[in-house]
Order: sequence, then structure tokens, then C-alpha cells
Amino acid sequence: MSQTKQWWKESVIYQIYPRSFNDSNGDGIGDLKGITEKLDYLKQLGIDVIWLSPVYKSPNDDNGYDISDYKDIMDEFGTMEDWEELLEAAHNRGLKIIMDLVVNHSSDEHAWFAESRKSKDNPYRDYYIWRPGKEDGSEPNNWDSAFSGSAWEYDETTGEYYLHLFSKKQPDLNWENPTVRQEVYDMMRWWLDKGIDGFRMDVINFISKVPGLPDAPNPEGKKYVSGSQYFMNGPRIHEFLHEMHEEALKDYDVMTVGEMPGVGPDEAVNYTKEESEELNMVFQFEHVDLDSGPGGKWDLRPLSLKDLRDNLVKWQKALEQDGWNSLYMNNHDQPRMVSRFGNDGKFHKESAKMLATLLHMMKGTPYIYQGEEFGMTNVQFEDINDYKDIETLNMYREKRDEGVSHEELMKRIYVKGRDNARTPVQWDDSKNAGFTTGKPWIQVNPNYKEINAAAAVNDENSIFSYYQKLIELRHQNETVVYGSFDIMLNDNEEVFAYKRELNGETLLVYCNFYEDSPQVEIPAEYQQANKELFISNYELEDTESNKFTLKPYEARVYRIRK
Ligand code: NOJ
Repeated sequence: MSQTKQWWKESVIYQIYPRSFNDSNGDGIGDLKGITEKLDYLKQLGIDVIWLSPVYKSPNDDNGYDISDYKDIMDEFGTMEDWEELLEAAHNRGLKIIMDLVVNHSSDEHAWFAESRKSKDNPYRDYYIWRPGKEDGSEPNNWDSAFSGSAWEYDETTGEYYLHLFSKKQPDLNWENPTVRQEVYDMMRWWLDKGIDGFRMDVINFISKVPGLPDAPNPEGKKYVSGSQYFMNGPRIHEFLHEMHEEALKDYDVMTVGEMPGVGPDEAVNYTKEESEELNMVFQFEHVDLDSGPGGKWDLRPLSLKDLRDNLVKWQKALEQDGWNSLYMNNHDQPRMVSRFGNDGKFHKESAKMLATLLHMMKGTPYIYQGEEFGMTNVQFEDINDYKDIETLNMYREKRDEGVSHEELMKRIYVKGRDNARTPVQWDDSKNAGFTTGKPWIQVNPNYKEINAAAAVNDENSIFSYYQKLIELRHQNETVVYGSFDIMLNDNEEVFAYKRELNGETLLVYCNFYEDSPQVEIPAEYQQANKELFISNYELEDTESNKFTLKPYEARVYRIRK
């Protein structure tokens, strides 16, 4: 039952992408000491848990999501001592830390892979997924990689191909091999024994592949196509995750969240209901794929409030009784939420606060991505060379080769590129936004003079102050955490409205998604009740009337007690 009380349901989680967070030593790259320096800021914001994107040893083909040593720290980020200091300093402040677990694949520079590629009878050979080519010598199947091209790389030494669903420097681990699984569980326990508070698990629903790795249907006769139906939520996924729970997790009071592209609500319930003993929650992708066409993420299409609402409501209802939702609108892979779902120009503050209200009042555990709390926005660099993300750069090269214009590709990158979220955190209005005294590894968003943490912290009307209030409300009010969820005004084209209820208390949430001023009315059953304003992103003159007009991007929440 999702009513079971758990600390991770009552928490707000803050994601740190260390490379872009705060640089303490002037090399232009964020680091662990830089994070420790900012713990008081995070405490001031009020969050409970930090999710650290990977800080492990890595050649950085995919900014740390390619790990060459799971038990060591990336050189640019510091040392294990720095990491221990960070954990202790966080715990001293009552902040928990969860680590990223990237075990669908490792780096090709991991010692296991160095062995594995040496010979077909090497003891590590079966740690990875090797196959001979087809008769004509081509790749073992027609799957594409998430980062363009084939999902297979030919390796001269043994004359076979290895599978890499991401870059060729990220070979997939072979979860069919029980020794690999035990290695992963040992490593997880090693970190848990150091005192961490849980894991965010990278593409964890990719680890079980359909045996035989068949070709995917290819009606258009493309060179490579998505093979996702053969590895998303594969045949042994529940078995593996339950085993992980038994072997690594069950003796620790920790939380887990599994990143799961392609997961639907029914399957998400199976992963997260208590009886399954698998995961606490998952990151699903449906709501962040609504503005993608059939061609995938770079195939832009407009997003309607109706689609977004229908989707979020579907997830709220599906996981209301069993299971648990994670609530997010951006992260290190997604565009900035105020640019994508709000208005990052004229109504920057209003829309950022409205979106935060929408998310934080829903049922589930909210995630804040660094800089979101003061409204960081997407970025537009003119020169493709200013982009650093492997997905973006590979896509650009591939599509240019196919003849797509630079202008068209930049348009797509401005909307969807991952570097939108990866520009340095804008701490203040000094040089490089206070992120580094050196040359930042990726350029700072030029809007840092106006949009920065220092300005926001000192302003009681800032987005930051509003997030503080939202987090505080969750900590104080059980209806926000455990209340039921029901949609209101289901047909309204401009307003996303819903209610939460628990033990005779009701929260009515109204979020205006546009610049217009729609009228709404409190449902008849609550019109006689005493209502108090719970939170709003405007100074409101009249909070008594049952009929009211919402200002552009207004969010208003009423609390009613019987
Ligand atoms: C999902 C991560 O969030 C993303 O940043 C990464 O590129 C892929 N998984 C591969 O690890």
C-alpha cells in the first residue's frame, strides 16, 4: 500500500550533476569539494536527499556514465577522501546522499573489459555481450545505439562484435552471467557499508535482453533501427531486480529509484509495489516524450496541456494505491523545465513557480534538478563546437552527413539538447557566474547576470523562496505526501487543476498554463467550507470568492478542513 509511511516518500530530492555544479579548484570542472561548499545552500533550500550523478573513475566519454572503476573517484572530481568528507558533512546537516548506479554498461576502459576483449576464453569474456558477425560479416543484428550508428562495435583482436546500447565506449554488461551480478551486488554493498542512503539506477530496465538478440522489424529498410522491444523490461528483469534486493539492498534502510525508459504505468506498479521487493520508485519518460514525434526525440512537435495532463493523471491514478511515483520535469538529460513547459521570457518567475506547484503538490517524491530552484533556462550556442554532449554531437554529425541543414539541427538542439541542462550552475553575477575561477568546461548561460542563486536567495519573492515554501509544506502536511489524487476541470484547455484528500482535509490545486486569464470555480461541495490559501505565486487580493480569474501562469492552492 502506498499509504505505508516511508522517509523517502516525505523527502524532496535534489539532483547534482557534479561536472556543472561548483568548481573549488579552478580547473573549470565542478568537483566534490565544490559540492561540500554548497551544502549549507542546499540545507537552506530545505531538501532532504542529494542524488549525485556519477562521480566514479571515468574517461568521460559520456560525462561519467561510462565507469572504469566503480570503487574509485573521477580524477577531476577529487579523491575518495573528498567524497567521504562530503558524505559526513551532508549527514551532519541531516542530508542524505544517494549514488548513481550505472551497471547496464561499464566503460571500455574498465579492467573487466580490458580482459574481456583479450581472448574468447578469457575468464572475463562473458562479462560482456560478444557475438560473431552475420555471414556477410555485418553486425550481429540491426539495433541502433542511443547515441547514433550501430549498437555493435567490431573488435579486431578476437574478430567479434560487442554490444553497446550507448556509445562504443560503453559496452553492455552481460547480466545473464551470475558472476557479473554478484560483482555488482558486492560493489553495491561496498558503497552501502560506507553509509550511503540509496541508489538511482541508470537505465536499469535494460539489463535483461531477449535471448538470441533478434533483428528488430525494419519495414522502412533503414540501416539500423531501435531494438528496444528486445531489451526494455526484458524477460528476466523482475528476477534480477528482486535478486538485487535480496543480495544487496534488503538489510539497509535506503531508497532506490530506477531510471526506466519505455516503462508504462502497469509495469511501474510491478516494479514499485512493496510485495515485489524490487524498487521504491522509477523514473518514467512518457511525459517528457510527449513533444517528440514518431522519429524520436529530435522530431519536434508541440505539446498540448491536454496531453500532458492526461499523461500525468494516468500515472497519478495508476500508482495511487500500490507503487509510488517519482515527480520530475527535468534532469541532466532533459531541457530546462521553465523553457520547455513554461515561459522563460516575460513570465519566467510566474511560470517557474507554477510548474513547481503543479509538481510538488502531486503524489510522489519530487526531484529538483540543480539550478531549477532559481529558474535556470535553456541555452543557445551558435557554434556546434560549443556543445559537449556526445548524443548531440553524434546526432549532428550523422544528420549533417544525411544533408540536414545546420540551421535545422541547431533548432532541434536548442529545444532538446542535453547541454541545455548542463551549463554551469549560476551562483552569482560575477565572472563565469561564480562557478569557476578558471575556464568552464562548457560555457555559462549568458543570462547569469539576471538569473542566479545569490539574487534569488536574498529575494523573498524569488523562485528560490517559493521552492523553500513548497518543500516546507510537504514536510508539514501529510495530505501533500499521502493524500489521494483526483483531477478537476478535466476539459479545461488552460488550467491544470486537481485535488488531494486525506483525513477530512482537501487541497485544491489550480495551475494556469498560459498567459490568458481563465475563470474557474471552486467545486460546489466545497463552496460553503472555510478555505484558506495554502500557497500562491501571486499576491492575491481576494482569496474568499468561489469564482475567480487566474492571472497568467498563476498557481493557487486552497486548503479546506472539515
Ligand atoms: C541515462 C543517463 O541519465 C544518461 O545521461 C546516460 O547518457 C545514459 N543513461 C547512459 O548511461
